[in-house]
Amino acid sequence: MRKLKLIGIGAGNPDYITIQAINALREVDVVFVTDKGEDTADLLRARKEVCERYMQAKPYRIIEIQDPRRDRNSAAYRSAVTAWHERRAALYEQVIREQLSDDECGAFLVWGDPSLYDSTLRIIDQVAARGTVNFQCEIIPGITSIQALAARHKISLNQIGEAVHITTGRRLIEDQYTGDANIVVLLDGECSFKTIANDNVDIYWGAYLGTPDEILLSGKLNELSEQIQQLRAQARKQKGWIMDTYLLRKRGTSSC
Ligand SMILES: C[S@@+](CC[C@H](N)C(=O)[O-])C[C@H]1O[C@@H](n2cnc3c(N)ncnc32)[C@H](O)[C@@H]1O
Repeated sequence: MRKLKLIGIGAGNPDYITIQAINALREVDVVFVTDKGEDTADLLRARKEVCERYMQAKPYRIIEIQDPRRDRNSAAYRSAVTAWHERRAALYEQVIREQLSDDECGAFLVWGDPSLYDSTLRIIDQVAARGTVNFQCEIIPGITSIQALAARHKISLNQIGEAVHITTGRRLIEDQYTGDANIVVLLDGECSFKTIANDNVDIYWGAYLGTPDEILLSGKLNELSEQIQQLRAQARKQKGWIMDTYLLRKRGTSSC
């Protein structure tokens, strides 16, 4: 039966890759990489570099999948994402069936870890549910942008005995965060932190974590808010894309 591995490659630094991931890569015959357009060309290149670095033991093929465009203008967020996932599932099914033979091992290299705001696992589940192509699936965990953020700021995510909440920029606004919890925010193209009025909140912000372009800023949110927005806009303009993550928490001591 075909084998399929979803390999977390870490979120930025090529050294974030685990020994388990390296060993898994050595078994792979076909690497499926998704191309989401020009702004993510750097991420595509990073995945190819991982292959070049760790897959020298035997020949392998790279198959690029041109990701279908997502309707980002639709007001119905969930149904737009569901429709997009269905189109991707059809495409993934096709490439697995056509490009991977029965006795081969294929891999999707997932940025960070497959369990965190990444749809590859969900789409592969959808492909399996269609029942038109059989494969065994294995997940190899990777270092997430959240772990990279905490390590680079030398902080723990929670204060003693407290909970940590992980969310998106969109939900940060919808859920009306008041500033009394440890909240990690990903996928925030709108700098949603600027809507928080509470002046007793710290932010630990990181962009391009683990890469040579990494930017880190931390301190009182209402003193840094403008600066982060400006830096973010500048960096995005210069590179053409940005990935940033941040932790918000009630002001207080926090060190490693
Ligand atoms: C689609 S999610 C993927 C998350 C990924 N699976 C992980 O484990 O970190 C993309 C978001 O992750 C965060 N992210 C990923 N890599 C990052 C990096 N190197 N620096 C800062 N944020 C990053 C950003 O919030 C970005 O918008």
